[in-house]
Amino acid sequence: LRRIEDAEVDGKRVLVRVDFNVPMREGQVTDDTRLKAALPTIAWLRSHGAKVILAAHFGRPKGAREPDMSLRPVLAPLSELLATKVLFAEDCVGESAERAAKALQTGDVLLLENTRFHAGEEANDPEFAARLAGLADLYVNDAFSAAHRAHASTEGVAHHLPAYAGKAMEREIDHLTAALEAPTRPLLAVVGGAKVSTKLDLLKNLVSKVDRLFVGGAMANTFLAAKGHDVGASLHEADLLTTAREILDIAGQSDCDILLPVDGVVTKEFKAHAERRVAQVDDIKPDEMMLDCGPDTVDRLADAIAAARTLVWNGPLGAFETPPFDTATVEAANFAAGRARNHNLVAVAGGGDTVAALNHAGVAEDFTFVSTAGGAFLEWLEGKTLPGVAVLKED
Ligand code: 3PG
Repeated sequence: LRRIEDAEVDGKRVLVRVDFNVPMREGQVTDDTRLKAALPTIAWLRSHGAKVILAAHFGRPKGAREPDMSLRPVLAPLSELLATKVLFAEDCVGESAERAAKALQTGDVLLLENTRFHAGEEANDPEFAARLAGLADLYVNDAFSAAHRAHASTEGVAHHLPAYAGKAMEREIDHLTAALEAPTRPLLAVVGGAKVSTKLDLLKNLVSKVDRLFVGGAMANTFLAAKGHDVGASLHEADLLTTAREILDIAGQSDCDILLPVDGVVTKEFKAHAERRVAQVDDIKPDEMMLDCGPDTVDRLADAIAAARTLVWNGPLGAFETPPFDTATVEAANFAAGRARNHNLVAVAGGGDTVAALNHAGVAEDFTFVSTAGGAFLEWLEGKTLPGVAVLKED
């Protein structure tokens, strides 16, 4: 991997791909985690005499200029975080971008408008990539969370400029490699979420790599049904029972111990604070649905976490947005955080809802590493090569 420290950036224009695809409501950034993640690279470049040009996508405008998908709302919070006025170009290529890039002084930071306003971005059109590259002397990719996309600004542009990994990218790769490719064992994976269907490749890859896999969330219901339990009205994928059995078989062949819930919190209606009871998994009534793991399951999971040296966590263990069905997720996250704090557990988490769940539990800070990535984290767990990372390794 070519790292930013290897680059000679003094006096150079550096095009930095960041991921500013941040949560936004009514033109206001509501979570600045991804802005903060980009700060170390920007600060390093400025202190080494570079002129910084930031490129990013926002939303999925499908190649058209959508005013409500402008990156402009990012300017104010980013300027505040950097304690400098960030400049803005109304387009990411063409005259406005070229003019703004040329006028940059050492230490200046310029943000380009949404790269996805051009169809060439997602098409990874070489001509569009060359136009982007034409703005700068060097390219740095700091957007691990967009590295699963082979787009012009994440992949194509690296064929036109000397290309390096930024600090956030480097941190993601180093931590995820340490957790999955060269872990201190035993290695435990905790996977939750609603559907097996969205995580098939991930589960197949994980069972061949980890020592233990705990499955929670509604996707556990599909596994329980595959093992012959009657899950009542619980959300499950009846068409995936054979697939779930196949995954259990692969686990058996690779010596991966699979842990499934032994009890759950069941209810007849899916709403906050609904009337509920704890049921063993072989005692779920036809009109009951399981919305969270039960206390015995949480105890077993805690034992598994205590026995592990490395933990990789993706997905909530229950309907964590609907209290009190967040209980298992919060308790297990707290337990893992304690082990990370006091017992050297390497605890790594990532992927969409996971970060929200850990923040909800108030323990994200205690984890060894929380990835900023959603889809890219999942593809990494699937064992896929991420195009935006691969291109930084090419000679
Ligand atoms: C993300 O938010 O996961 C990344 O920014 C990628 O966004 P995308 O799924 O629209 O490509």
